[in-house]
Amino acid sequence: MPARRHPRARRHGSLTAPPGMYLGIDLGTSGVKALLVDGDQKIVGSASGALTVSRPHPGWSEQEPAHWIAATETALGELKAHFGPQLAAVRGIGLSGQMHGATLLDAADQVLRPCILWNDTRSHREAAELDADPRFRELSGNIVFPGFTAPKLVWVRNHEPEVFAGTARVLLPKDYLRLWLIGEHVSEMSDAAGTSWLDVGRRAWSPALLDASGMRAEQMPRLVEGTEVSGRLRRELAAGWGMTGEVVVAGGAGDNAASAVGMGSVRAGAAFISIGTSGVLFAANASYLPNPASAVHAFCHALPDAWHQMGVILSATDSLNWLAGITGTTAQALTDALEGELQPPGGGLFLPYLSGERTPHNDAAIRGAFAGLGHETDRAALTRAVVEGVAFAFRDCLEALKAAGTRLERAVAVGGGSRSGYWLKTIATALDMAVDLPAEGDFGAAFGAARLGLIAAERADPLAVCTAPPVARSFMPQPALRAAFEEGFQRYRAFYPAIRNSITRSA
Ligand code: XUL
Repeated sequence: MPARRHPRARRHGSLTAPPGMYLGIDLGTSGVKALLVDGDQKIVGSASGALTVSRPHPGWSEQEPAHWIAATETALGELKAHFGPQLAAVRGIGLSGQMHGATLLDAADQVLRPCILWNDTRSHREAAELDADPRFRELSGNIVFPGFTAPKLVWVRNHEPEVFAGTARVLLPKDYLRLWLIGEHVSEMSDAAGTSWLDVGRRAWSPALLDASGMRAEQMPRLVEGTEVSGRLRRELAAGWGMTGEVVVAGGAGDNAASAVGMGSVRAGAAFISIGTSGVLFAANASYLPNPASAVHAFCHALPDAWHQMGVILSATDSLNWLAGITGTTAQALTDALEGELQPPGGGLFLPYLSGERTPHNDAAIRGAFAGLGHETDRAALTRAVVEGVAFAFRDCLEALKAAGTRLERAVAVGGGSRSGYWLKTIATALDMAVDLPAEGDFGAAFGAARLGLIAAERADPLAVCTAPPVARSFMPQPALRAAFEEGFQRYRAFYPAIRNSITRSA
């Protein structure tokens, strides 16, 4: 993809601008995005390199780590071609990445097998076995989900014993990219928290959890905070990209914590709701507040002494895309047909569990369902049912966060679904809280990573750097519809236990 200029990029924060440039690299599932900002946090340009996912068996999801490097080289090559002088002035790089993946290396740092990704469910049995050991929830603060890293290693031990025996090191995806950048094995707290091997309250690897999954401490990378320097960019790479001064690489963050840094969701109570392929309700916390019983993720934040919680739903815009696909239209056309006054729920009921669900059920085998359809149910009614079903799934996440001690008054909306005003109105009333739509701009994970690069390189105050974007429009809950949405939510909640035993697929 060609490099993009950002003519309407805005200025954030009140720093006296440092002289250099800062680079954020976000290793996503469908591509690597590189974003260049100046000392004023103004976006100079961005470029990306595409990635594909290989699914050799049902439930499997893999990528070749070499492709991450190739995609990063593509993106940086584009940046160099369009913004050469600015790229040459980079002083700090921050990394963000898809979480939970298992990259297995031998003693010579050679990759032993394709990386097993976050959305790979092959290790669901191993995850349930580890989760039955009470130490995992107690120390890692989380359910051992099938997508997390530890159960993947148990699967490799059971199914690929030679690979397991040869594994000298396990790295998360962005930390493999870091190995290429700085030549060292380093991770940071927010991503490490999603492995099931971190003592999340103490921010240190847990010898007990490593031992319980057949792993050893020396197989783990060294840990830093997301805002700290993890190492220096290798000379050879710096020279290739025209960088002349010393370039530090910050710890960085897992993609959700990096997005939170980009949107300024760093102080306790600040939250964002991401309506993307999957959906995330993310809240920053000043202390460690686990509650695995309600399937909330409690992870370290990218800033020192900060944690966060998040509820994760697996099919948000994916549910609408599915409906668009089978009705022969686009998601945008479906939601465009709804714009106007918010309607009370009731036209139909939809459970968005197309690929199972994490929060609140931790059920990889459940599948989605419609109910309450009649002869009068048309395409618009099905769209509303999907939009409401996803909103109620977010409400489930909110209830799970409440049960874990968090109260939210508002959240910033991001992701493709936030383009639909009707969807945002629905979410605001279903969750009974304000939903803020940021002014147009790029506040995602790559921007958050660039902020972490700036903080590490300039030893800047993280709270001064991580400000919130300007709000374009706030969607408030509609009091007249609150009771109707509450009733709709109770019907939604009763639906899952009613179908759980009859509608499942193998995970
Ligand atoms: C978080 C999670 C996803 C991945 C993929 O727990 O699984 O957000 O990080 O982007």
